[in-house]
Amino acid sequence: MNQHMRAEPVPFYDLISQRQRLGASIDEAIARVMSHCLFINGPEVAVLEKALAEFCGARHVVSCASGTDALLMVLMAKDVGPGDAVLCPSFTFCATGEAVALTGATPVFVDVNEATFNIDPASLKRGIATARQRGLKPVAVIPVDLFGQSADHDPIAAIAEAEGLFVLGDAAQGFGARYKGRRIGSFGLATATSFFPTKPLGCFGDGGAIFTDDDELADTLRSIRVHGQGSDKYDNVRLGLTGRLDTMQAAVLIEKLKIFDDEIAARNRVAERYARGLDNVVTVPRLAEGCSSVWAQYTIRLPEGADRDGFAAALKAQGIPTMVYYAKSMHQQTAYEAFPVAEGGLPVSEKLSTDVISLPIHAYLDEATQARVIEAVRGALSA
Ligand SMILES: Cc1ncc(COP(=O)(O)O)c(C=O)c1O
Repeated sequence: MNQHMRAEPVPFYDLISQRQRLGASIDEAIARVMSHCLFINGPEVAVLEKALAEFCGARHVVSCASGTDALLMVLMAKDVGPGDAVLCPSFTFCATGEAVALTGATPVFVDVNEATFNIDPASLKRGIATARQRGLKPVAVIPVDLFGQSADHDPIAAIAEAEGLFVLGDAAQGFGARYKGRRIGSFGLATATSFFPTKPLGCFGDGGAIFTDDDELADTLRSIRVHGQGSDKYDNVRLGLTGRLDTMQAAVLIEKLKIFDDEIAARNRVAERYARGLDNVVTVPRLAEGCSSVWAQYTIRLPEGADRDGFAAALKAQGIPTMVYYAKSMHQQTAYEAFPVAEGGLPVSEKLSTDVISLPIHAYLDEATQARVIEAVRGALSA
């Protein structure tokens, strides 16, 4: 290519191609809502909840206003509050620990596995001990399916059971992935997800859902999402939120769910191609035994000593965007630095924060563009 010609910019996410693929089906779904005007609790909400339950095998699906609300609502339903400790990985999006802190409970940050970016069971055990040493009562753990890969749920469940904790999965990035053949959404007490537009399954605004097999919890969550409403609409029996998913978003998600499996397969093809093209120049993400990914992000690690800003600038100059998820782990951020970390510190999270960088990945990234990304990464590292 003539080096003076500007290469066509590559989108980091591509909602436009998906929009074009869905075409009239989305327009018609939105038009139906516009004609019945049941913008809150319209029929699409129940249809979506049933479709999501069938998709992931959960007994109950409670849709809600965001992934953050999904986490918060479960913690509220379980009366988590001051004096309680909730164990969370530090290398995650801030909402994981934020939901805990909003209840008045203490997030206790634990380290992650260097190969998978997901919670490290050994650090989880140390975090539980740290919480007890601080006089806190460990009540729950929030494993995150980071970047789309399911966490290693079996060892986490074993520790949680031995220590009397409940497990609340944060599948904001991993909904659609599988663990040992089973879809995320049927592990632990409950699983929360986000339908933020750029998530693997996203709507046209904010949205989220909670998955659980627990009948009583599902009832409490349905009350919490409408201000803690009881059987008498005007007798609120607990504190709650305006936590509902809009009908319009449900209508959009019903259509998007129909192509979700196909999109997951396409994302996996991109990830396989990236791995083949980049394996010998960077540390490519690895799937752990029994885990699959929906590739919310494709996050590589740069070689020791590489200049991450320079690398990002070299790719940007060729029209290829990158993102750093996460330049600071939660325990390194101003709002969270006073909360405890597991004994021994969180060296892996801190190291990852310095060397990770995410490349464009989505279901509509064609092979020529994938080759361009691979070539640019290799070129930037050999320069
Ligand atoms: C791991 C994780 N947890 C929770 C959330 C919160 O989801 P929402 O933005 O829908 O509140 C996100 C969103 O980015 C996330 O990535």
